Amino acid sequence: MTGTGTEWWRTAVIYQIYPRSFADANGDGMGDLAGIQSRLPQLRDLGVDAVWLSPFYTSPQRDAGYDVADYCDVDPLFGDLDDFDAMQQAAHDLGIRVIIDIVPNHSSSDHVWFQEALRAAPGSDARARYMFRDGLGATGELPPNNWESVFGGRAWTRITEADGTPGQWYLHLFDSTQPDLDWENPWVREQFRSVLRFWLDRGVDGFRVDVAHGMIKAAGLPDYTPPAEGGSMGGGSATLEPNISAEPPVTPPYWAQDGVHEIYRDWHAVLAEYPGDRVLAAEAWVDPLTEVAKWVRPDEMHQAFNFAYLETPWNAPMLRRVIDDSLAAFSGVGAPSTWVLSNHDVVRHASRLALGAENLQGHGIGPNTPGLPDTVVGLRRARAASSLMLSLPGSSYLYQGEELGLPEVIDLPDSAREDPTWFRTKGERYGRDGCRVPIPWEAAAPSYGFGTSSKSWLPQPAEWAGLARDQQAGVEGSTLELYTLALRLRREFALGVGSVDWLPGFPPEVVAFRSGGVTVIANTGDASVTLPVGDVLLSSETLTGRTLPGDTTVWLRS
Ligand code: NOJ
Repeated sequence: MTGTGTEWWRTAVIYQIYPRSFADANGDGMGDLAGIQSRLPQLRDLGVDAVWLSPFYTSPQRDAGYDVADYCDVDPLFGDLDDFDAMQQAAHDLGIRVIIDIVPNHSSSDHVWFQEALRAAPGSDARARYMFRDGLGATGELPPNNWESVFGGRAWTRITEADGTPGQWYLHLFDSTQPDLDWENPWVREQFRSVLRFWLDRGVDGFRVDVAHGMIKAAGLPDYTPPAEGGSMGGGSATLEPNISAEPPVTPPYWAQDGVHEIYRDWHAVLAEYPGDRVLAAEAWVDPLTEVAKWVRPDEMHQAFNFAYLETPWNAPMLRRVIDDSLAAFSGVGAPSTWVLSNHDVVRHASRLALGAENLQGHGIGPNTPGLPDTVVGLRRARAASSLMLSLPGSSYLYQGEELGLPEVIDLPDSAREDPTWFRTKGERYGRDGCRVPIPWEAAAPSYGFGTSSKSWLPQPAEWAGLARDQQAGVEGSTLELYTLALRLRREFALGVGSVDWLPGFPPEVVAFRSGGVTVIANTGDASVTLPVGDVLLSSETLTGRTLPGDTTVWLRS
C-alpha cells in the first residue's frame, strides 16, 4: 500500500468513518474498530480510495472523542491497539488507505499533562503547556479577555489552586474539558512530533488535522467579539451568501494566525521521512478560499477541506463561482481542490439543501426549528449535488451514510443528546447529534445491523429501515447504486485529473461543463432543459426522453 510515490491523495475519494456510529461489533451500542473492520468490504464495493477515521483515542468522550486523554492509545470503547492494527491491515489488504484524526489544538482535561498542570504552581513548566493566565479585576475574578467558546459560553474557566484558593484561568476555545495547548511552547511541538511518528510507524497513510486554523493565538490575546452568526466550527456561516469573495473578513485573534504555518512545515518534514505519500488534511474554517490555500502551499499540508463549497447553496451561479474560485485558489499553490458536502459537524446535505437561509447558521436543526426541510426535495437535491461533486477534478470527501441518502435526524429526544453545544447553550442550539446517528446496514436486523444488539447510542428513526444498505444494494436507481456508479465512472474517465471547461448555451440555473470525455449538466432550477447529444452515463433521477428535469444531474459521454 505504501511506497508507491503516486500522490494518490490528489484525486482520491475519501470516506469519513465516524467510529461511534459506523458499526458496533460488541453490541454495546457504540461503534468500534472491529465493527469498522467487518464492514470494510462494503466500502471496497462502494469504490472509495481511503477512509478517514474520526478520533478513537482514549477519551472521556465529552466531545465525542475530540477530547483526547492519550494520543497514543485506543479507548476501550473502540477496542485496543491490536484492533487498530488489524483493522488497518484489513483496509490495506483491500486497497483502502487509512487516514486518522489528530487533535492538536487542545487535549482532554483528563490528559496527564493537564492534570499535572492543575497540581503545579502558576508559572511552572507544567502550566506552560496550556494557556493559563491570571484573571482581571481586583482579585482575578474576571476572565483574562472576552473570548467565547465555539460551543457557547465563555472560553475561559477558573481553577482552584492546590492550596484551595481561587486561581488562574485556562483557555478552551471549545468545551471546558478541552483546554487549549500552548503551541508557542517547544515542548508541546516535540510531543506532537512523537505522536505523529507513533502512528506513522504503525502505518497510517495520513492525518486529518482538527482545528488546523486555531493553534496559535495573537500576542496579548486581545478582546474580540465575533459576528452574531458564525458557522458551527466558528468559521464562516452557512448563509445564502457564503463568503467566497476576495475580501478577507476581520481575522479573529484565535484563528488563522500566521504562526500556524511554521507548525505544518515542521509536520510536512516529519511525514516526508516516511515512504508512501502520507497526507496531511487541514480542517481550517477560514475565508476566503485564497486564505485556505495557504494551508496547502508546497511545504505545508497536502489538502484542506473546502468548506466554501460545503456552504454553497444549491444554486447554479453560486456553484459555478465557488468551483472557479476553488480551482483557481488551490491550483495557485499547486494543490488539488477538495470537495465536501457533509461531515459530522454539519446538517446532512440531504436535509440542508432543502432548508431556507434562516436555518443555515450552523446551529443544527431540531423539532422547533422553523421551516423544516422537505425530505423528498432534500434527497433529490442531495443526489444531484453529490453527482456534481463526484465529477469535479481533485479529491472528494464523503461522510458515512450519505451514500444511503440519510437525512439529518431532527426529532432526537432531548434526553439522548450528547453534543456539548446543546448543553453549553442550554438547548438554544441543537448542535450536531442529528448527523451522528448510527447508520443502517440491514433493514431486518436489530439496530438495523449497526450492531450485534438492538442498542444504539443515539436512537435510529424507524424510516431508516427502508434506507438500510441491504435495501439499496443492487437496486437500480438507489442512492447507494448512484454513488457506486459515480465512483466507478469517475475512475474510468479519470475525472479526478480532469478540468472544468464550462459549456455555454444553458440557462443560468444550469451548471454545465466538460471534463475528461464527460459532459456534466446539473439543473438547479425548476424548469426542464433539453439535453445535448451523448450517451447517458449517469443520471441522479430517471430520465424521460432527452430532457433534464429540475434538481437533477446527468453525466453524458462527450
Ligand atoms: C472540529 C471537529 O470536527 C469537531 O467535531 C470538534 O468538536 C471540534 N473540532 C473540536 O475538536
